[in-house]
Amino acid sequence: MEIQSIIDDDGNAEHTQQNFIIFDDSKGSLTEPGKLEVPPLSTAVKRLRGRDEDAMGVWMEGARAAECHLEWEAFKAAAGMVNFQLPVLITGTSINGIGFEAARVIAKYANLVIITGYSAERLKLSEETIKKEFPSANIRPLVLDLSSLAAVRRAAAEVNAYAEPIHILINNAAASGGPFELSVDGFELQMATDHIGPFLFTKLIAPKLLASATATFTPRVVFVASMTHAFGPGIDFSTVAHPDPAKYHPMGAYSQAKSANILMAIELSKRAHGKINAYSLHPGSIFTNITQKPGRRAALQEIGFLGADGQPNSEKTEWKTIPQGAATTVAAAFDTRIEDKSGAYLDDGTEANAKLAAHCADPENAEKLWTITEQIIGEPFTF
Ligand SMILES: NC(=O)c1ccc[n+]([C@@H]2O[C@H](COP(=O)([O-])OP(=O)(O)OC[C@H]3O[C@@H](n4cnc5c(N)ncnc54)[C@H](OP(=O)(O)O)[C@@H]3O)[C@@H](O)[C@H]2O)c1
Repeated sequence: MEIQSIIDDDGNAEHTQQNFIIFDDSKGSLTEPGKLEVPPLSTAVKRLRGRDEDAMGVWMEGARAAECHLEWEAFKAAAGMVNFQLPVLITGTSINGIGFEAARVIAKYANLVIITGYSAERLKLSEETIKKEFPSANIRPLVLDLSSLAAVRRAAAEVNAYAEPIHILINNAAASGGPFELSVDGFELQMATDHIGPFLFTKLIAPKLLASATATFTPRVVFVASMTHAFGPGIDFSTVAHPDPAKYHPMGAYSQAKSANILMAIELSKRAHGKINAYSLHPGSIFTNITQKPGRRAALQEIGFLGADGQPNSEKTEWKTIPQGAATTVAAAFDTRIEDKSGAYLDDGTEANAKLAAHCADPENAEKLWTITEQIIGEPFTF
């Protein structure tokens, strides 16, 4: 399948078909090398709005656009295509979510995609849906309840017993948010599910990730955070181990949990000393399961992101489709152009550290959170 491009009066490329040359290994070079303008991914994503494109296609469009001057082999390497076959584990993969879309498009290429969820029933549905679309995909479901330290330990032991290596871990799952609730271990539920559980899980399977390193690939850990990290003053460190219902607000707790994702990527990157590359990201505002769950819906209505009818309010924020949102997850997992940007926060598929709130750009906060979380899980996370 050949990509056909036309150059408009301004010299911008518009694609006349939706298949991408990069999926066709028989092609030796890109169409019209050197002739196309080079829009950043954010522009490419915007241009694709309203088109029926999957997350891989959205990311590829941006990657291809940015690298269109390169020869085929150089392009494949630059865009990370050489790594597509690597085994990936992604948390929180319920249908109609960002994690599901990422798992679905990665499953088309990867040797193994481990999908996880706390509901075996929903996990099975996700597995069957992907298998129906890609019968030869190697999908492995793993029951993982991130809100419970014991459940995390059980799931990590299962993962560590797999024969296959895991090269990429995508920490995507998040609790729904709602009234104040404690996890089984006595932590605020969003912080427990979105940060403490993923911290322990990442720590426990880190040896497996580290063992997957090759001469050409550094293992990656991705944290799906959110721009809502900036909606609050940052983490109240006094409540991470000792939650206080009097200080609780659903969106405030979400903002803190998402801040933790960003700080964790920064500190993991620092402590791994180049042995693991870590990234956090904002996928965009996307109408998924989470935005329709009562607790989160009420919180999003309160800030005007959703209208009184529970539908997206485009006057308040720009909405993306699920594939457009998952494209940034795909970029964080595979794009080799961010190889030297470990610790970075991504938005619209590219590094966006400038968009970080000061509290999430502060390395002291990253270190502090790491130490507190080590104390909570009762063991150090070292390299
Ligand atoms: N949608 C947005 O606008 C938006 C914006 C910024 C960031 N994000 C982030 O994007 C990520 C994906 O969210 P989404 O919008 O795609 O919503 P979603 O479909 O609800 O994804 C969240 C996933 O986490 C799972 N999960 C919840 N509690 C869990 C637990 N205790 N253990 C294991 N898994 C658990 C959910 O499972 P169940 O379905 O079984 O409950 C679901 O699969 C989240 O980290 C979210 O914070 C989303």
